[in-house]
Amino acid sequence: MDAFKAVKLTENVYWVGAIDWAIRDFHGYSTGRGSTYNAYLILSDKITLIDTVKKPFFNEMMMRISSVIDPSRIEIIISNHSEMDHTGALPDTISAVNPDKVYASPMGSKALSAHFHWEEDPIEVVKTGDSADLGNMSIEFIETRMLHWPDSMVSYLPEEKILFSQDGFGMHLASTERFDDELPLNLLEEEARKYYANILMPFSPLVSALLGNLGKMQLEIDLLCPDHGPVWRSNIGWILGKWSFWAERKPSPKAVVVYDTMWNSTRTMAESVVEGLTQEGVSSKLMPLRASLLSDIAAEVLCASALIVGSPTINGRIFPSVAECMNYLGGLKPRNLVGAAFGSYGWSGEAVNELNGLLEGMKVELVSEGLRAVYVPDAEVIEESVKLGKTVGRRILEICGGAE
Ligand code: FEO
Repeated sequence: MDAFKAVKLTENVYWVGAIDWAIRDFHGYSTGRGSTYNAYLILSDKITLIDTVKKPFFNEMMMRISSVIDPSRIEIIISNHSEMDHTGALPDTISAVNPDKVYASPMGSKALSAHFHWEEDPIEVVKTGDSADLGNMSIEFIETRMLHWPDSMVSYLPEEKILFSQDGFGMHLASTERFDDELPLNLLEEEARKYYANILMPFSPLVSALLGNLGKMQLEIDLLCPDHGPVWRSNIGWILGKWSFWAERKPSPKAVVVYDTMWNSTRTMAESVVEGLTQEGVSSKLMPLRASLLSDIAAEVLCASALIVGSPTINGRIFPSVAECMNYLGGLKPRNLVGAAFGSYGWSGEAVNELNGLLEGMKVELVSEGLRAVYVPDAEVIEESVKLGKTVGRRILEICGGAE
């Protein structure tokens, strides 16, 4: 049963994961290009499997393993991250393989117990600094707590200079290509940035610390093997640099304007705000919530200096789609943003105040007390909206020291 083949990465290491061409919603993250669940097989004296796949892809993984070895020869399984896209198939794999050891971090052990409610806990706990003896090779473990779960760890194979980085440096991208240099760099940048924004942005200070620690450890890395997307072999420095840049959240001269609208009044204001930004020479991305996915908005916000939000007032509150967006973005904890709120209303107009409070809660520096229009914007309101865009634009340029 080996209709699906493993992909050779080095003489002793194979990719034995699965390609999920169909997934479009990964717990709310819009995966427009599908994903992969990467598992890796090391043909050491003690044959080792790093991570598994989502439960429905168990057979695909086993077929790929079987194309190289009899799966019952696997002696060691390492679980770098307990989220179900990498462990859904773990119980079936343990049953099929009957390994001598299954390693996970201390928090990984707890998480796996809480997921699978083992009758007999198969996990042996390993911590930072521990290593596993693979016979002619070894694996060193480095815990990476909260990147992005408490259990997360990475595993390093010094004999091959390979870092198995679980979700780290990954992306949701289904492809037949397994290596970074087989895919266009602009595609990798787009998907890696979206992944960072939606999965790692809240933990950016920890990302900076981890990258600093990896630098101090002076790990030699010839292959960087994440649990999603391509294996990095030609652009390792590039992706490490991108993560460092995103983690630092250096300001760039760009604004994101998001809004929803009932009768196009808030839309008119939004488009006028963008006109003002444009007149100041600042690039902006207008994202109508009826036509924009939250995970795409997050990817834009990651590389922006301003978040400007528009909402009509409905039943004394902000519009539901705007509330959903603010809730999502607030959880991602974007930093170093300036911003403003605007919106149209009929008789009460609470939306702008509510948005101001939400933006302040996100530590966004407000450059205006907000702009309101009664029913349909007249020429004066349109002019004020353009001015609001200009005001934000000038503040962005102050922060960034000029347009790119
Ligand atoms: Fe790919 Fe956090 O799981």
